Amino acid sequence: MSVLLQASGLCQQYTTGKTLFKHPTVVRAVDSIDLEIREGEIAGIVGESGSGKSTLGRMLLGIEPPYRGELTWRGAPMPAPGTPEWRRLRREMQLIFQDPLAALDRRMTIADQIGEPLEIHGLVPREAIRNRVSELMGKVGLRPDQAGRYPHELSGGQRQRVVIARALAMAPKFLVCDEPVSALDVSIQAQVVNLLYDLKLEEGLTMVFISHDLKVVRNLCDRVVVMYLGRIVEEGPADEIFANPRHPYTQALVSSVPSAGRGHAKRILLQGEPPNPASRPSGCAFHPRCHLADAACKAEAPALIRDSHRLAACLKLRAAPNQDQVREIHA
Ligand SMILES: Nc1ncnc2c1ncn2[C@@H]1O[C@H](COP(=O)(O)OP(=O)(O)OP(=O)(O)O)[C@@H](O)[C@H]1O
Ligand SMILES: [Mg+2]
Repeated sequence: MSVLLQASGLCQQYTTGKTLFKHPTVVRAVDSIDLEIREGEIAGIVGESGSGKSTLGRMLLGIEPPYRGELTWRGAPMPAPGTPEWRRLRREMQLIFQDPLAALDRRMTIADQIGEPLEIHGLVPREAIRNRVSELMGKVGLRPDQAGRYPHELSGGQRQRVVIARALAMAPKFLVCDEPVSALDVSIQAQVVNLLYDLKLEEGLTMVFISHDLKVVRNLCDRVVVMYLGRIVEEGPADEIFANPRHPYTQALVSSVPSAGRGHAKRILLQGEPPNPASRPSGCAFHPRCHLADAACKAEAPALIRDSHRLAACLKLRAAPNQDQVREIHA
């Protein structure tokens, strides 16, 4: 699979909380991320709240310029924002996020909203817009009689379909879906997830799928990237990550997902406070919550080490690369 998008050393930081009496706090939301997104894949990004998933997603789309680091698209540097090449590329990359109502205009019918990008960008002749809108509505499973409805007259799942149809109108190559189904009922979630999967197969779309829901990630994604406090701690093919997580953090996340036939595996509860990017622990940022941590983990930040097609950042793995040994410690 060829590489569509490549991030090298991506960093993002925000300065917050500056008042007359208080020094500003610098939050490193994304910290030295190297990541490849390959053509035609769905890459899942998981991690607790505040781990930098949405920030990374926005940066991959070029919506937010990196504080440091570089992005290439099909091997060439991302064009500078505002240039014609950048505008053309932006059409190929679309964002779908959690709240479809916020993404839609309440005063426009859904057919007009799906047709709007076609009109603005002159993507099809004016007289062909209506047909293309019907086609897009069919593709996302909206009925023709719903064309004249307004967003508030639709269910959450139907609204998300409208957002997806509007994104598809631009004939994108790459979608970042940031918690696209977390506001939906479980049954509707499955329909929207199936729709995204069909789009990958039928349209050859490449996607980054950001989610808290590991069950959905396991079913949908080809590859999984696990983030902790702005960094990647583990990455690999989804089936392998779920069958044999290596990083203790991933092991804890995965242990909370029931799997068919065996229910919950021995559940590993995460101890301590959820991560706070404003006060990053020394050494391995996960060490205060890790049952394997020792003095070395407090002192030394682990590098992300590659082992064939998998990556993990844990000093304990370096000491004991045999996974069975790590598993024994858990038993
Ligand atoms: N515009 C901003 N200004 C200041 N801080 C920000 C901004 N955007 C994000 N952050 C901070 O950066 C960190 C990462 O945020 P981000 O939204 O990327 O996390 P996330 O993994 O998407 O979390 P969630 O799962 O809750 O959506 C958080 O600590 C957040 O408070
Ligand atoms: Mg987020």
